[in-house]
Amino acid sequence: MSIDLRSWLEKVDAQGELAHVDGADWNLEIGTINTLHSRSERCSALLFDGIKGYPKGHRVLTCSVNNLNRLAIAMNMPQGGSGMDFVKAMRGKLSVWEKTMHQFPPQEVASGPVLQNVRSGKDVNLFELPVPKWHEADGGRYLGTGDAIITRDPESGEINLGAYRVMVHDEKTTGLYMSPGKHGRIHCEKYHALGKPCPVAMSFGHHPLLHRAAATELPAGAEFGFIGAVLGEPVKVIREEITGLPIPADSEIVVVGWVPPDKTLSEGPFGEWTGYYASKERQAPIVEVERIYFRNDPIILGAPPDRAPFDASLASVVKDSAVLWDALDRSGVPDVRGVWESEVGLQQFVVVSIKQRYPGHAKQVGMLACQNRPPAYHGRYVIVVDEDIDPSNITEVMWALTTRSDPEKDIDIVRRAWSTPLDTMIRKPTNAFFNSRAVIDACKPYEWIDEFPQAISTSPEWEKKVRAKWGKTLDLKSRRKIW
Ligand SMILES: Cc1cc2nc3c(=O)[nH]c(=O)nc-3n(C[C@H](O)[C@H](O)[C@H](O)COP(=O)(O)O)c2cc1C
Repeated sequence: MSIDLRSWLEKVDAQGELAHVDGADWNLEIGTINTLHSRSERCSALLFDGIKGYPKGHRVLTCSVNNLNRLAIAMNMPQGGSGMDFVKAMRGKLSVWEKTMHQFPPQEVASGPVLQNVRSGKDVNLFELPVPKWHEADGGRYLGTGDAIITRDPESGEINLGAYRVMVHDEKTTGLYMSPGKHGRIHCEKYHALGKPCPVAMSFGHHPLLHRAAATELPAGAEFGFIGAVLGEPVKVIREEITGLPIPADSEIVVVGWVPPDKTLSEGPFGEWTGYYASKERQAPIVEVERIYFRNDPIILGAPPDRAPFDASLASVVKDSAVLWDALDRSGVPDVRGVWESEVGLQQFVVVSIKQRYPGHAKQVGMLACQNRPPAYHGRYVIVVDEDIDPSNITEVMWALTTRSDPEKDIDIVRRAWSTPLDTMIRKPTNAFFNSRAVIDACKPYEWIDEFPQAISTSPEWEKKVRAKWGKTLDLKSRRKIW
């Protein structure tokens, strides 16, 4: 498997999963098509070409991995099955990838397609690329949505990849928004504490796996090895001349520069994954761009946030659920049977199912779930349910919540937890980015579990018998949506 975006595009095109869109405008048209198409039942990946005002071949790709099939192709995973099947399969793989990633450090090469075009100094013009303005109320054009931002820890030398949004301020300057506590931000703060600018390399077009790894809560410095473990071969990187940072040789577009310690510009507002413009317009670090590298006919990978369902929401659900499940297992808690982060709310609404083994088991799981990544950052509600409830089925979860929890004794609040300017419930301006967590025990009370009212159910034998006799004349199979 290769980390080249174009080979991935060929695969999804061969499976009829790629739509070509010709002649759309970078100014809101690409963004609106993406918003509407992301909500559709049979959502294909969208490759925009012939973008208004740009040469043919300067392209934008969106909706890359917002169905399980294309995500599986990107992540070298088996195709087919439900969302929960995907989470379970990914869990199995995560532990293998994490164990083997040290065997796949990036491999330095002298050259690669990303060097086909180079713009330095006065020739740097970010608007040479068809950077979309995604949502109507956005404060600017965002080149970085499906990106991978590469930084180095000045103390340990570790290389981190994070997906952080990047707005274009002018031809030679971008913004870079990294929430408090994110690894890229910590790297930057360390350089600034030394009075130095932070070198940064920003990949804006690449195989979706690169962006997925950057968006995954891996230990700092783990991403390149992790991608190598997924691929089964090291990622080829070139030592970038100005910053010394490793850049993927197969990237479509890489922009390099410095984050100065003493300069900020007004960034945002930007339509965020919560479905709001909560962090508003504020001062944020900038990148002074020194050089742009791009392939012939470069492709920007877009993954703009929105109200769910959006471009990256499904991929985030399965990734976050698998990562959290692994973290719970690692903490030694027994009998977790399922983890699911709702596509609405993402890490703000997490459900964990368990087979209760001892008094306090449900509370232990709930507390750990709200303080492990991903929901440790900007979480809000964690609901713990019994093993007969499918956490990915919101109807079953609401049934458990309404029938197996008593608000007065089953909701615990954790205060002053890790939040962010993106939190809709924090009134700005402020620098107090704390929020609280509700941990809800919606399991049958452990101390009288055996006396708990019996749930109504139809046995498989009766279902079979009745369907065989009456199913030809009556609809006894489909299930209507619950309003
Ligand atoms: C499409 C997308 C956009 C994101 N944008 C941002 C962002 O602008 N700022 C941020 O701090 N995190 C953002 N994230 C989340 C981070 O990428 C994620 O928390 C990741 O783990 C950060 O890397 P780190 O753990 O190495 O800091 C985004 C995630 C996705 C999927």
